[in-house]
Amino acid sequence: MDSISVKDRRFVPFISPEELDREVKRVAAEINRDYEGKEPLFLCVLNGSFIFAADLMREVNLPCELSFVKMTSYQGMGTTGNVRELIGLNVDITGRHVIIVEDIVDTGITMAHMLETLKGHNPASIDICTLLTKPDKLQVQLDIRYCCLSIPNGFIVGYGLDYDGYGRNLKGIYVVEDRMKK
Ligand code: IMP
Ligand code: MG
Repeated sequence: MDSISVKDRRFVPFISPEELDREVKRVAAEINRDYEGKEPLFLCVLNGSFIFAADLMREVNLPCELSFVKMTSYQGMGTTGNVRELIGLNVDITGRHVIIVEDIVDTGITMAHMLETLKGHNPASIDICTLLTKPDKLQVQLDIRYCCLSIPNGFIVGYGLDYDGYGRNLKGIYVVEDRMKK
C-alpha cells in the first residue's frame, strides 16, 4: 500500500486488505458459533458499512436477512454530535435477533441513538458488530459484542469509510497523515 491523496489530504497506509479479510472472517466465525439455530437480521448502517456488511455476510453460514438504515453524524472530519436518520427502518424487527453492522464506533453517539430507536420495536435481541472502534473517543457506555479491530484516534478512510464522500472504494484503510496533531 502506498500513501494516497483524498481531496485535499494525504493519507498513509494503516490496515491492509489482508488484515481486514482475516478479521472479518474471525468475527463471522464468532457469529456463526453464537447464533447457531437462530436466523439473525443484519441491520447495516449506511453508508460506511456497506463493504464490511457485504464481506461479513458472505462468511456467515446461517439463514439470515439483511436490511439497511441510514444515519449521519459526520461532516468532513468531525462529528456533529447530532444524529440524523435519513432512511428509517423498513422491516419489522419485533421478535427478531438483530445484529447491527457498523463501520466504526467513534463517540458512540450514533450507536446509542440506534439502540434506543430499535429497542422501541421489541426485538428478541440486539448485538453490535463493528469493523472498528476508537476506544479513546467513546463518550457513552456501549456493549460491543463483535469488533474486528480497535484503533487509536486519527481520521481514517477506505473499505467503505469516507472523507467528505470520497475514498470509500479503497481496498485497505488509510489514516490521515497529520494524525499526531489530532
Ligand atoms: P459516532 O456517532 O461518533 O460514533 O460516529 C460514528 C460514525 O461516524 C461512523 O459510523 C462513521 O460513519 C463516522 N466516522 C467516525 N470516525 C470516522 C473516521 O475516522 N473516518 C470516517 N468516518 C468516521
Ligand atoms: Mg457509519
